[in-house]
Amino acid sequence: MQTVKSVSVRPMKATDMAAAMAILQEWNMAPVADDSVANPERSELVVDLSFVAELEGEMVGVCSMILHSPTLAETASLAVSPAARGTGAGYLLQVARLREMRRRGIETVHTETDRPDTIDWYVRKFGYRVVGSNPKKHSFSLADVDQWTVLQLDLRQWQDPD
Ligand SMILES: CC(C)(COP(=O)(O)OP(=O)(O)OC[C@H]1O[C@@H](n2cnc3c(N)ncnc32)[C@H](O)[C@@H]1OP(=O)(O)O)[C@@H](O)C(=O)NCCC(=O)NCCS
Repeated sequence: MQTVKSVSVRPMKATDMAAAMAILQEWNMAPVADDSVANPERSELVVDLSFVAELEGEMVGVCSMILHSPTLAETASLAVSPAARGTGAGYLLQVARLREMRRRGIETVHTETDRPDTIDWYVRKFGYRVVGSNPKKHSFSLADVDQWTVLQLDLRQWQDPD
């Protein structure tokens, strides 16, 4: 378990699901599990591939990943409650999943996001580079942005802060 100030990150448990979905919903990023959207951006949050962040015992963030091949993974469902932004929760969540990807042998990390501050954060803090863009399948995250900025990280080059 890693800690910065009073934020801690741990693997997700099944009982965390409702709180995790509520945080994702705050950013219009909750997976769509029913048939209300034909081809949703995200349809599930896989407990065994997810982490949560807690601040003084309360869940404030979540992140997940999708494993596409033995060496390629995609980030998914990273969100921190608006009130807890800037506490380092997002940073610790991202570090936790990069470590887990590395442990699993992942070499390339694919990330899609639409917020300019988040794109900048991935590039500055983790060494991603912008490699392109991708149209959104439906309204997800920012309602007024219709495409994802695609970023890639060479995980073999990433320096674990520990
Ligand atoms: C991206 C995100 C997960 C980062 O989480 P976080 O806990 O704020 O992350 P950190 O505290 O590590 O750092 C955020 C940066 O914003 C700054 N910040 C401070 N207070 C802030 C606030 N109230 N609001 C926004 N940013 C703030 C931090 O100082 C930090 O800057 P730095 O990189 O120069 O140090 C979070 O902002 C978020 O949920 N954003 C909306 C959803 C999103 O874009 N998710 C990613 C999808 S790919």
